Amino acid sequence: MTAKIIDGKAIAAKRRAAVAVRVAELKAAGVAPGLAVVIVGADPASQVYVRNKHKACEETGIHSFSYELPETTTQDELLALVTELNARDDVHGVLVQFPLPAHIDEDAVIEAIDIGKDVDGFHPESIGRLVVGKDTFVSCTPAGVMVLLEESGIDLTGKDVLVLGRSNNVGKPAALLALARNATVTVCHSRTRDLADHVRAADVVIVAIGRPEMVKGDWIGEGAVVIDVGINRTEDGRLVGDVEFETAKERASAITPVPGGVGPMTIAMLLENTVKSAARSAGVE
Ligand code: GUN
Repeated sequence: MTAKIIDGKAIAAKRRAAVAVRVAELKAAGVAPGLAVVIVGADPASQVYVRNKHKACEETGIHSFSYELPETTTQDELLALVTELNARDDVHGVLVQFPLPAHIDEDAVIEAIDIGKDVDGFHPESIGRLVVGKDTFVSCTPAGVMVLLEESGIDLTGKDVLVLGRSNNVGKPAALLALARNATVTVCHSRTRDLADHVRAADVVIVAIGRPEMVKGDWIGEGAVVIDVGINRTEDGRLVGDVEFETAKERASAITPVPGGVGPMTIAMLLENTVKSAARSAGVE
């Protein structure tokens, strides 16, 4: 079997176009959606991510407010800025880019964000609401994974879904979202025994382990769906996922490429969360 390639770029573009329409409607109703993005220090990868977020806002008509703070910013100064942004009526989403410098406690920053503006979905209360099935902002990458599956016509009901990785921002919420879609969910991680056997038994494999090509193609069950969240640069400069793509695609029924699979969805979901927050704040959800 040769897999259908799930085109995250196309699906993200479609969702972004829908965001632009919704932004125009909200503006016509007197609400201009706004996202504040805060970066501390000059980490080159973070600078690229942040630039892409601003660009995506611009393209969809969302106002983006940029805060570039020096590496020496204290935790108190950053918390004071978050408090100020929480209170602003023209800011509907507050995003502090991670990682932060080592002298700042990331958990304290996440917890300072108003959960009504937690468009990253990282706040423990947002995650708690996801656990109990209440409406909440969902972390953008796992939310994007669910959209890729839905847009590809893949229903998780009754399926054996394997989530590989247990991070708070990807693996755990992905598992909860799959469970809410009636999947039978297994979460595996770096300490799991017989990982290949777990992968072989799964109908859908969501991999977010952060290790280049760790999941071998011959581990994939015939006809399984493979969602690869990983993005890693190899020593020879190639971008690869956490799954061995070329061999996996000969066994899977559908697979996401790297790049161009899950990656583009993260920002699309951030825009959707920002618009949802703006609509909610104006009572026009
Ligand atoms: N750093 C890498 N990805 C993300 C993200 O999605 N949100 C934030 N806040 N920081 C990140």
